[in-house]
Amino acid sequence: MRVLVTQEIDPAGLALLRDAGLQVEQHHGPAPLSPARLRQRIVGCSALVPMPTDQVGVAVLASPGLRVVACHSVGVDHVDLDAARSHGVLVTNTPGVLTEATADLTLALLLAVARHLCEGDHMVRTGGFHGWRPTLLRGMDLRGARLGIVGMGRIGRAVAARAAAFGMEVQGCTATTGMPLDELLATSDILSLHCPLSPATHHLLDAARLARMKRGALLINTARGPIVDEDALAAALESGHLGGAGLDVHHDEPAIHPRLLRRRDVVLLPHLGSATWTARRAMAETACRNVVAVLSGQPPLDPVVPPA
Ligand code: DGY
Repeated sequence: MRVLVTQEIDPAGLALLRDAGLQVEQHHGPAPLSPARLRQRIVGCSALVPMPTDQVGVAVLASPGLRVVACHSVGVDHVDLDAARSHGVLVTNTPGVLTEATADLTLALLLAVARHLCEGDHMVRTGGFHGWRPTLLRGMDLRGARLGIVGMGRIGRAVAARAAAFGMEVQGCTATTGMPLDELLATSDILSLHCPLSPATHHLLDAARLARMKRGALLINTARGPIVDEDALAAALESGHLGGAGLDVHHDEPAIHPRLLRRRDVVLLPHLGSATWTARRAMAETACRNVVAVLSGQPPLDPVVPPA
């Protein structure tokens, strides 16, 4: 049986597939497979290990003999789950193994925005640092600041634990519990997004909700780009309503919103949330263990679309 892996992944994952007697087909190269190439290469494969950069729609899911899509990510917004269900294809993800790495990156981004780290680095490298000044690049104190967390799942809770160690007051909401979103927006000095992308959270932070945020507040997004309306975010920063933003994820990745690209009060990262050696190895192993389980007739270990 053949397994298509759409990017280079940690070899520990590939070894699991090969040890199980599966034939691995891999795409190499920095650019993802085009949708047309993905449709061609899936033909004859029993399993797919896609990345968040692959759009796994009905044309892929209808491929005869495809039994499992084992996402190399916790997010599954790139897979048409309804089409998977209707074609009897199982879908799995990698929950748990990237929680700490993503929470660490969130705090790194939060600190970078709150304390102007990238602006400071740029100033030093470009000869703009002319000595210590009492008014140079003053930022936000974290102790006593209120951190609003949208989405109190594993990653949201791991961020909350770290923020508490910095003396922040943490408040959170989920789709059904916690503080109402509008109140969270109105009372948080920093807002950090940790909800999945779905039709319900697409542009959750639109112009109206951004306007409800406190003047000078900071927005951190390590979840998914389309949760934020980036035109509205650019306008909120340009008007001075928001004090800064840290974005690890982007609406049209890898394209970056041109108005956000120009702003010094925005820190931009290339979707690094889970990019540690340990997390990426565990993600590869988790995705591949799910493939092996399903193709050997066992139930999937991390089902998102389970067997009917
Ligand atoms: C995920 O797992 O969904 C992440 O975005 C990849 O880092």
